[in-house]
Parts: sequence; C-alpha cells; structure tokens
Amino acid sequence: MGRLVVVSNRVTPITGRQAASAGGLAVGVLAALRDTGGLWFGWSGEVNETSRTGGRDGNGPPPPRVFRTGKVTYGLIDLSDADYQGFYAGFANRTLWPLFHYRLDLASFEHHWYATYRRVNQRFAEALRPLLKPDDIVWIHDYHLIPMAAELRRLGCENRIGFFLHIPFPAPEIYVSLPWHRQLAADLCAYDVLGFQTGTDVHQFKQYVELELNGTADWKGSVNALGRQLHVDAYPIGIDVDDVQGMAVSAEAKRQAARLSASMANRQLIMGVDRLDYTKGIVERLRAFELLLQDYPNLRRQVTFMQISAPSREQVPEYLELREQVELLSGHLNGVYSEADWVPLRYINRSYTRRSLMGFFRISRLGLVTPLRDGMNLVALEYVAAQDEQDPGVLVLSRFAGCAQQLDGALVVNPYDVHHLADTMHAGLAMTLDERQDRWRRMMQAVRHHDIIAWRDRFLARLEKLERVA
Ligand code: G6P
Repeated sequence: MGRLVVVSNRVTPITGRQAASAGGLAVGVLAALRDTGGLWFGWSGEVNETSRTGGRDGNGPPPPRVFRTGKVTYGLIDLSDADYQGFYAGFANRTLWPLFHYRLDLASFEHHWYATYRRVNQRFAEALRPLLKPDDIVWIHDYHLIPMAAELRRLGCENRIGFFLHIPFPAPEIYVSLPWHRQLAADLCAYDVLGFQTGTDVHQFKQYVELELNGTADWKGSVNALGRQLHVDAYPIGIDVDDVQGMAVSAEAKRQAARLSASMANRQLIMGVDRLDYTKGIVERLRAFELLLQDYPNLRRQVTFMQISAPSREQVPEYLELREQVELLSGHLNGVYSEADWVPLRYINRSYTRRSLMGFFRISRLGLVTPLRDGMNLVALEYVAAQDEQDPGVLVLSRFAGCAQQLDGALVVNPYDVHHLADTMHAGLAMTLDERQDRWRRMMQAVRHHDIIAWRDRFLARLEKLERVA
C-alpha cells in the first residue's frame, strides 16, 4: 500500500498527555496513524499574520513546517487572523457545525465566510500538493475541508482521495437551507470514497443526491452524480480499546480515581464528560439531574454528579452563551440542593488528561452521554472500555448519538425528554450487578468489533481497491 496521508483541520501531535478538549477526530486519527505511520497534514493551531491567503506581496504564505515524531511525519500550516475568523470561527463553526447538527436556529450564512472557507481550502491544497508522492493515499477529514479534493484535482493531483465526515449528514430538508448546498455536494462528489458515521447519514446523503442532483445511488454504495462515480458507505469510527483499557488502569488513573473516591464518602458517582458544546445536551442533562433529586429524595446525599466540560471554541458567541447558561443552572442546582456536608454537582470547566478521565469512568456507577445530535461520540465507547468487568458502570446514551446504533446494552434515551432521562438515571443507579455485567459484555463486544483499526482498515481497503484517477 502507498503511504497514508491524512489531512484534518485539527492536528494534535501529542504523545502521552492528550486532553479531553482534543475531541474525537484528533484522538481517532492519531490512533489510526500510530502504527502504520504516514503524513498528517493540517492546521498548526497557530494564528499569525505571515500566513495570509490572497496576500498582498505576491510571495504567498510560507510553506508548511514539516517534522517527524515516531512513525508520523507532520506538515503544519498557520492561519492568519482573517482566515481563522472566516474559515474556522465563521463558516466551519457557525454555519456548517450548527446546520449539520440540526441547529438551523443557530446557523449564520455569511457570504464572506464562505469565500474565506473556499480560499483556505485552496491554501491547504496548495501547501499539501508539493509534499505528495504519486502513490500516496490521501484521506481527508471532516466538515472544515469538504472542498479539498476538488482543489487538489485542480492542481493536477491524481492520487486516490477519500473523505470521512465525523459529524452527522443532515436530512436533505435541513441541508438545502445552506445557500451553497449544491457547491459543497459537488465537492463531496469529487472524492473517490465518501465515508459517513452511520447508515442514516449515508441514506440522507443518497436521498439528497437523488432529489436535488438528479443522481443515482444503488444499495452497494455506488453513487453517480454530476458526471462522477464514487463509493459511499458507513464506516463507524471506533477507539483503540487496548489503549483505553491501559489508560484506565494506569498509575495516573489510579491516583486520580483514589483522590476522587476519598472525597466521595461512599456516594455513587455519576459522570459526564464533553466539550462544552450545545450539541452535547449538557443543559438538558443538568435539568434531568435536578428532577432526579426532586423526584427521588432518597437519592439526595447518596449521589454526586461530576460534569467535566472542557472549554471549546470560545471565540464563537453561541459557546459563550452556553457557558453562561450552564454556570447559571449549576449554581442554581447546588444552591437549592446542597447541604453543609454534601454538594450534589461538581461542574468543572477545564480539561483533564484522558488517563485521569478513564480512571474516573472506571469508578463511576453511571455514565451520561446524552447529546442532542452527535456523529458517533467516542466518549461513550471509552466509557464502556474503561470499566472494570467485575463491577461495570451503566451507560445512559442518547438515541441521537451515532454509537447508539451499536450499543444495545446501553440505556437509550431521548435527551429532550428530561423526565424520562431522570427516571432512566434512577433505574441505572438501582441496576443489579448481574444486569450491569450482562449489558456491559454486550457493549464491549460491539466496541471491540468496531474499533479504530477496523475503521481505518475498512476505509483504506475500499480506497485502495480503486484505480488511480486517469
Ligand atoms: C468534533 C469535530 C472535530 C473537531 C473536534 C474539536 O469532534 O468533528 O473536527 O476537531 O470536534 O473541535 P475543535 O473546533 O477544537 O477542533
């Protein structure tokens, strides 16, 4: 097989100490690249003025910084402030992100953001092009970089190029609200293989192709549209199970878990871990926790809910509003229910290392993963893998997380129905050890079956099967 070249906006060349704020993509891609090696190309996370696209002096932005860590070579570019605002804080995270997560009410459609998004994609392609060898297999990730294959082709690139969307692909009715839906669909059709998280996403994309592009799609995954033929399928992303299990019993995890336990006075621990994002259902989860304390007073003093929400995209106003809302709710909840020697909620607005989190998961009785909409949600999979099989915790999982389609051992909820969510939390806390073990075994089987290696190998096998572009 040719060298693997992965392209994503977020690149985290980190070795041991990964934080929860990294998000599923960076964790997943690193795990996928670690043993095969290859090139990982993307944004450095830096913003500075030497990196302007469409610069005035005609010299263009500087070439990428290339360096190697272990088997992975990194190629990183910086963004100028204007590009960062229009591309990342604007079109990617105030247009595509809310829209693809069904939050049309939060989506803004600004023409200049879209122009910058296209320009930055062109810049990514121009910076990557000289680093590519003819046999490289190029795998592009997520909503920031949809136009990249089209841009690479324009520069004469004939490599096989695949794309994986980490977030949901919305129903056509929602997607067509995007003024540029046709252009971005044409960009998607420029790939050779198009991967989505779930069968639902695939179905919705195919529906769009048939309804709006007059294209055709067959059950085997072959899509014909706009003069292109491509392969479209579901490739549910997974986790590196052994890595997570190792983290959960590491010295750091044990130390952190022991400190937490000592502070809990034998109470049952309920855990939630997410980026502080409005798609994660944190507000609804806090409301449900309040209902739990209200409706089941015997649980007061018996449980502690620890919600860790790593700060995320703080330059986007909707995220700041969410933070205020969560702060208000958690202050209210603790004000009403705390006692001199018990505080029901520990709301923590910073990130922890993944080792610490796995240690916390392992000693918790309930894991709450209740997004309002989520591509896959790797936290749910990590929660399962981090458990002690002798005494596993219970996963309460939103039906709107992609992984709900695999984890039939979870207690599946509609996160908008906060009363049912509270009752389900109660049922989870009361569950017998036998049932917890039985459900955990079923989930663990699915987590192993759909692990990160299976994801990478299935996607790349499909991409390799194809002839190089003539
Ligand atoms: C989600 C997206 C990723 C993104 C991550 C963290 O998982 O699918 O593409 O990297 O969130 O968000 P950020 O904006 O910090 O990269």
